[in-house]
Amino acid sequence: MKILVIGSGGREHALCHALRRTSQRRIELYCAPGSDAIGEMAHTVPASATDVAALASFAETERIALTIVGGEAPLAAGLADEFERRGLVVAGPRAEAAQLESSKAFAKEFMARHRIPTARFRVAASAGEAREILLGGEFGGADAPVVVKADGLAGGKGVVVAATRAEALQAVGELMEGGRVGSDAARRVVIEEALTGAEASLLFWTDGTHYALMPPARDHKRIGEGDTGPNTGGMGAITAPGVLDEETQGNAVRKVVEPTLAGLRADGLEFRGVIFVGLMLTPEGARVLEYNVRFGDPEAQAILVRLESDLGEIFEAVATKNLRDARVEWTEDASACVVLAARGYPERPETGARIEGLDGAQKSSSVQIFHAGTKRAADGSWRTAGGRVVGVTTRAPTLERALAHCYEAAGHIHWDGMQYRRDIGRFGKQ
Ligand code: AMP
Ligand code: GLY
Repeated sequence: MKILVIGSGGREHALCHALRRTSQRRIELYCAPGSDAIGEMAHTVPASATDVAALASFAETERIALTIVGGEAPLAAGLADEFERRGLVVAGPRAEAAQLESSKAFAKEFMARHRIPTARFRVAASAGEAREILLGGEFGGADAPVVVKADGLAGGKGVVVAATRAEALQAVGELMEGGRVGSDAARRVVIEEALTGAEASLLFWTDGTHYALMPPARDHKRIGEGDTGPNTGGMGAITAPGVLDEETQGNAVRKVVEPTLAGLRADGLEFRGVIFVGLMLTPEGARVLEYNVRFGDPEAQAILVRLESDLGEIFEAVATKNLRDARVEWTEDASACVVLAARGYPERPETGARIEGLDGAQKSSSVQIFHAGTKRAADGSWRTAGGRVVGVTTRAPTLERALAHCYEAAGHIHWDGMQYRRDIGRFGKQ
């Protein structure tokens, strides 16, 4: 069975690794565009992840039986639409349903329409309108915190949690007039009530009707220990029983997961793929902060090492609407992924540094090292080639043990400028 994975980062490395590890069948794995590290377990395909037509033609020619999409950009670009038009089997939503992630205004209006708990909000179509809303008092006075979000995909740079009205007004200027994010992404902004509480990510597969939950995860978005400094793509992630207790999870399923699926059906949006719900656990109950229409990175790394069932079969069931019959089983333990990043990340990561100790780290413990931004040099050594470089990942009977293994392995790895957080799984958002 030929399976094609779309993407090139740590998440896609983890997807390829899990497909190989769990497969009961003989699979032939392709990854577009992939990376040097992914190339050690899959055929890499020299095509951009958003070149939808080229990817569909490749899948047709190679008779790919199943395509799995890692990131949001190909989905927002209509990859699933084009594959379905050509009769190809693909796990991932069409562009219209992918708006749950690609447009925050769409997601908020969807939640309002289907009574899914989320922060109170208004959508502004111009900077003037945004200022009027902020000065109107609806979200509190000058000292009240408020959140300003660019509508479109902004790679983590589009959300400003403003401590005061002045900061929020400044964020409106930066987002809508100052070019902080692409002009398409900030043509509209969402202004919303600031919530407080621990955060948790609840991910599930769905075939449009049935769903299968994954172990709840927590990521660490800030670059610095103690949740300080700028936001990143994610500096680490964990899964553990404490992330979401059973009662809260049950409530989230009844109030968020099931209404989301019912809402998609009511709106005529067929969703086959992964839904990632970012939750804030407020004193009034769980509130949705955001939807993603794919696995998180590095949540995927931490989640997938706990999968015991055949990942290819699960995605095939998702794509062909047979999820009810699929086996989806997890180990009963905990897991962690610690990201090792380059100096200068997230603003201007340095690349090209020689990475030492990867083999030693892999050999000395039970960890998996997923490559997010590396390249193999002509002399065979690994070099840094991105902001997030590798994600050191493992599972263990307890979170403490998983973290200890990750940090022990990280201690073997070195390059000039390597930085990582020593408090993954320990600090913040608890
Ligand atoms: P988002 O991309 O919408 O998930 O936002 C990124 C991060 O901003 C979240 O993980 C939260 O930490 C924070 N955030 C988003 N919305 C809110 C809110 N309404 N109140 C407080 N913090 C928020
Ligand atoms: N780690 C957060 C994300 O993938 O969006």
